Amino acid sequence: MSTTDETDTSPAPVTGRLEAELERLLAVESFDPPAGFTRRHPVENDVAAAAADPVTFWADKARELLNWDRPFTTVLNDANPPFYKWFEDGELNLSANCLDRHVAAGRGDRVAFHWAGEEGERRVITYAGLLDETQRLANGLRSLGVGKGDVVGIFLPMIPQVAAAMLACARIGAVHNVVFGGFAPSAVRERMEVSDAKVLITVDGARRKGRTAPVKAAVDAEMGDLKSLERILVVEAVGAAGLGGERAPMTPGRDVWYEELVAAADPVCPPEPMPAEAPLFILYSSGSTAKPKGILHTTAGYLLGVTYTYRTVFDIDPATDIYWCSADVGWITGHSYIIYGPLSNGATSVMYEGAPDYPDFDAWWKLIDEYKVTVFYTAPTAIRSCMKWGAEYPDRHDLSSLRLLGSVGEPINPKAWLWYQQVIGGGRCPVVDTWWQTETGAIMISPVPGVTSTKPGSATKPLPGFSPALLTEQGQPLSEGVGVLVVTQPWPSMLRTLYKDDDRFVETYFSRFGPTTYLVGDAARLDADGYFWIIGRIDDVINVSGHRLSTAEVESAIVAHEAVAESAVVAQADEQTGQAIVAFVTLTGGRVGDDAMVAELRDHVAARIGKLARPKRIIWADDLPKTRSGKIMRRLLRDVAEGRALGDVTTLRDPAVMAALASKVAEAD
Ligand code: PRX
Repeated sequence: MSTTDETDTSPAPVTGRLEAELERLLAVESFDPPAGFTRRHPVENDVAAAAADPVTFWADKARELLNWDRPFTTVLNDANPPFYKWFEDGELNLSANCLDRHVAAGRGDRVAFHWAGEEGERRVITYAGLLDETQRLANGLRSLGVGKGDVVGIFLPMIPQVAAAMLACARIGAVHNVVFGGFAPSAVRERMEVSDAKVLITVDGARRKGRTAPVKAAVDAEMGDLKSLERILVVEAVGAAGLGGERAPMTPGRDVWYEELVAAADPVCPPEPMPAEAPLFILYSSGSTAKPKGILHTTAGYLLGVTYTYRTVFDIDPATDIYWCSADVGWITGHSYIIYGPLSNGATSVMYEGAPDYPDFDAWWKLIDEYKVTVFYTAPTAIRSCMKWGAEYPDRHDLSSLRLLGSVGEPINPKAWLWYQQVIGGGRCPVVDTWWQTETGAIMISPVPGVTSTKPGSATKPLPGFSPALLTEQGQPLSEGVGVLVVTQPWPSMLRTLYKDDDRFVETYFSRFGPTTYLVGDAARLDADGYFWIIGRIDDVINVSGHRLSTAEVESAIVAHEAVAESAVVAQADEQTGQAIVAFVTLTGGRVGDDAMVAELRDHVAARIGKLARPKRIIWADDLPKTRSGKIMRRLLRDVAEGRALGDVTTLRDPAVMAALASKVAEAD
C-alpha cells in the first residue's frame, strides 16, 4: 500500500496500524460469515432442490420469480446439444417483468435509479417514470421502423436513458447490442456492421473528469457510409454549452433527437409477449481471434438467471436496500447487475456517471454516504486503486450503511480482498467474490453471504443450479488440484450461440470436451474443501482491469500502422490492473523505435479499439521467436516480458532471436 501519495495527509501511525492488521489477517485462511449479518432469503431449500434435480429447480424458480404471459410446459430441450432451449413454449416480456409488474403492485413511486453525475447533478428515476419513458421510446423506435428481431445499437454513457433504451428494445422484441462507451467509434462501427444494426442510439457528448468528448461527431465520422444503419437517435446530454457552443451535428432524414422522439410518441406501448427463446441481446466480447464474438442471450432463461442470482448473492430486500454496482452498462456486469437483475427484483440502485477519482479520490465513498448504499459491487482493479490512494479517503465518510460487498471481473488478490473487507466494509460485511462471464449471463460461483465461509482470493462454491467443475487436460474429472474449468450441465442463462456463427460457437466452447461440456476458458484450482480458486485465462485473452481483450485484436490494430512489419502481444502480470498488455513490435525498414513511435502506436491502438487496449509496454524486436512452421511462440515472449529465465528454445527456427530479445529487454529495464 502506498503511504507516499502526494495527497496523503493521514498520520503515519494509522496507516502503519492498518498495514500491520492486514498483514496479520493475511494469515487467516477462512472467515466465517459475520455474526451481524442475517440473511433475508434463505437458501437451504434451493441447495437441496438444485442438488436433487437442477432442471426442476429452475422450472420452480421460473414460476416463482417471473411473470409469464403464457406458461411454459416444457423446461429443458436438450435434444440437440450444445443448442439448448429453456422454457421453449412459454412467453413473457422482459420489460414487463422489470417495470409493469412493480408498478401494477403499487410500487410505481419506488426509485429505480438514483442517478448521480460527476459535477454533483442528481436525478431520481422511479419505476413509474422509467415505465413511461420506456413505453414512449418503444413507440418511437417502432416509428423509426424497428420491429421484432431487428438489432438496435446502443452507444451511451452511464445516463438513465441507457436503461430506457435497453428496456424499450425488450418491450418490442428488438435485440440490443450495447457497445461500451470507452470503445473507439471504429470499434462501434465494426460491431454495428457485423450485427446489421438498423438503428444506433447514441449521445451528443460524454463527460469524463471535467472534459467532454464530442461523441456524435466522432460517430458520424465512422458511420457515414454504413448502409445497414438507417437511423441514429441522439440523446442531448451535454447540449451546445457542453460542446463549446454548437449542438451536435445532425444529418437530416437519418438523425433524430431522442428527446423529441420521446416527447412526441404515444405514451402507451403494451409489452409484446415474446417467446422464451427470442433473442434478447448481443454483446460483443473478445475471443482468441481478432474478430470479436457476438455473444447471444435469449429472453426468459437469461432473465431467470439474473433475477435468481441477484436476489441470492446480494440478498436484496427491495424495500430497504440501496444497491450500487460501479460497472459500466457496456459490459455484461452492467447488463445483468445494473439493469436486468435489480429491476426485475424491484430494487433501488445508484447509477453514477463518473470516475472514482474525480473531483477527488473520495468520489465513491461520498456517494455511498450520501445515498446510504447498503450493497456495493465493484472490481478488484478499482479496489487496488483505492488502496493506493489510501484509507483516508473512505475514512472521510460514514460508510456504516454498507452491509454487503461484492467483487467481479478478475481474480482478487488476498490483500485487496482484506483491504476491501476491513476499510470499506469495516470488518462487518460479507465479501462476495463472484465468478462468471459474458457467456454465463449470471453469476455462477460465489459465496452465499451469511452462509458460506470465505477465503480471500477464492470465489468459493457454485451457486444452486450451476455445475462448474474441473477437468484435467485430458478431460478426467478432478476433485482437487489445478485443471481446466468447465460447466457440465446446461443452465438457463447460458449463451445460445455466437451471432450468426454457430460453427464458431461450437468450436470455441463445445469441441474440446464434446457438445455437452462447456469450456470456460479459465484455469482454476479446487482445494480440499471444494473451493474454487480462479487462476486466469487459458486462451489468448488478456484481462486488463477486468476488461477482456484478445491478443489478436490488439495485434491486428498494431500491424495496421504503416510503420509496423509484425507484432506479437502478450500479457504481463501487473500489480494495478491484474494484467497489462505488452507488445513486441518489428518495424519496417529504417523506422526507429523511439519514444515518439511508442506514443504514436499507443494513440493508433486507442483510435482503432479504445484507450483500454493501449499497450502498457512496447518492446522493439528485430525478429520474433517462431517455430519452424512459422507460429509465434508467445510463451517465450511472456517469459521475456516477465523477466523469467527462458524456457526451451530448441523448437525455434532461429534460437538466437530469443537471446537477442532477452538481452535487449534486460538492458532497457
Ligand atoms: O477469466 C475470468 C474473469 O473474467 C472472465 C470473463 O470476462 P467477461 O466475460 O468480460 O465478464 C466479466 C464480468 C463477469 C472470466 O473468464 N473473471 C470474472 N470474474 C472473476 C474472474 N476471474 C476471477 N475471479 C472472478 N471473480
